[in-house]
Amino acid sequence: MDKSISKIAEKGFLVSPGLEVEEDKVNSFLEFLKNLETKPCIISPDLYETFLAQKKEIIVKRPKSNRSEIETKIEIKKNYVQKRKETALNDWVNYYSDRYERIKKILLNREEMRSVISIKRIESMTGRNEVALIGLISNIHKTFSGKYIITLEDPSGTVSVYLKEGAEDVAGELVCDEVIGVVGVSSKNYVYASKILFPEIPRRDPKKAEEEVYAAFISDIHVGSNMFLTESFGQFVKWMRGETGSAEQKRIADKTKYLFVSGDLVDGVGVYPGQEKELIIKNIYDQYREFAKYMHRIPKDVQIIMIPGNHDALKLAEPQHPLFEDIAAPLYELENATMLSNPAYVNIHKTKTFSGFNVLMYHGSSFDHFVAEVPKLREKGYERGDEIMKFLLKKRHLSPTHTATRIDPTPQDFLAIDKIPDIFTTGHIHYTSVGRYRNIHTINNGCFQDKTEFQLKVGHNPTPGHVPILNLQNNKVKVMRFV
Ligand SMILES: [Fe+2]
Ligand SMILES: [Fe+2]
Repeated sequence: MDKSISKIAEKGFLVSPGLEVEEDKVNSFLEFLKNLETKPCIISPDLYETFLAQKKEIIVKRPKSNRSEIETKIEIKKNYVQKRKETALNDWVNYYSDRYERIKKILLNREEMRSVISIKRIESMTGRNEVALIGLISNIHKTFSGKYIITLEDPSGTVSVYLKEGAEDVAGELVCDEVIGVVGVSSKNYVYASKILFPEIPRRDPKKAEEEVYAAFISDIHVGSNMFLTESFGQFVKWMRGETGSAEQKRIADKTKYLFVSGDLVDGVGVYPGQEKELIIKNIYDQYREFAKYMHRIPKDVQIIMIPGNHDALKLAEPQHPLFEDIAAPLYELENATMLSNPAYVNIHKTKTFSGFNVLMYHGSSFDHFVAEVPKLREKGYERGDEIMKFLLKKRHLSPTHTATRIDPTPQDFLAIDKIPDIFTTGHIHYTSVGRYRNIHTINNGCFQDKTEFQLKVGHNPTPGHVPILNLQNNKVKVMRFV
């Protein structure tokens, strides 16, 4: 490590205390510094983290085997690598200000938001005036007569907003802490809203790869749990290797070159009280070692992209950085795996003439909250993860309500959906469902864990062994069953 620091100092840079640079990365880090528009005075650990998080490209050509030759490509677009630090009150202020500004920017593209004003301006208005506002919902109140009053907040102040006909239709979909647009009439210190605008996803054309190539989506394997379905997961790996299935299924396996694994790779240790009684592997290192055995058997021409979930050995607050390199060491030995944060954005299969598919990966820890709290989602329940995903896409945020999941108040709101994906893939609720919203594939993966005591109690029926496979050329999804 010291050698790296001396090498950086030799190039004329001042090095801040605490900077640690891996020896194998020092040359590319120097190259990165050289290409920065503004030359930094001091090289800080934060700058090194930025370098580690920058997009990198991996091109893997298939090794000699009898599998079909399709060149794969991955470009990391967003990957949170910062390790947790102490949180101060100001971090929360900055976090919510950043969320407000990010979503506001999206809302400002809407025609209705052209003449948006700050909430403070309402105070100085006299009479009735048509207004457009952008604010964060700090409270939702339903009156005895079934009317809704929301408190809307922006950096300048707060205002009470009464939902009138037209705005009432979406009242049940509103949640605290989300940023929305409001169109209505102001009168004294109130606003009577006739329209609520979500940041939304604009209409867009579908994307199509130029060749027949597939992506498979799995999550919630829960290796280590006594409910982990060894045989079913073994069957899936066998299929990926082309060793099982019909001739057509084997042909698809041969062309499946991307495998997304969206968290809860292992069951973890100490995740909930009494978990030790339900563990068959009680050591976290052994759990990852066991999971890695399966992953090592996936053909090397398949790009595996993995993110952690709430059962993995990390802090719970999101964004979660990629799995620790020591605890999950056997996974880091895989030459064809890319370990990313939860959430993460990655572009796959880009060519000179095709822009590739942008994939948003998120484990889905916030889903429980919204299924319980939003009437429309409660009706459909855990069986329609795709509806929860659509709900979040409209709000352009993975966890709009503060308590829906634990949040790390990062300087930029990493949970905001500011880049529009072509594929949105999640897990966590152990029920496979597949949908499409404005040409975004919404794919909630199944699991490889049998029904747990908890699921039995709450009447939830998971779909273990169901794996969505997406044909990137014709945009069709097949759900294959490994049971
Ligand atoms: Fe899970
Ligand atoms: Fe989970």
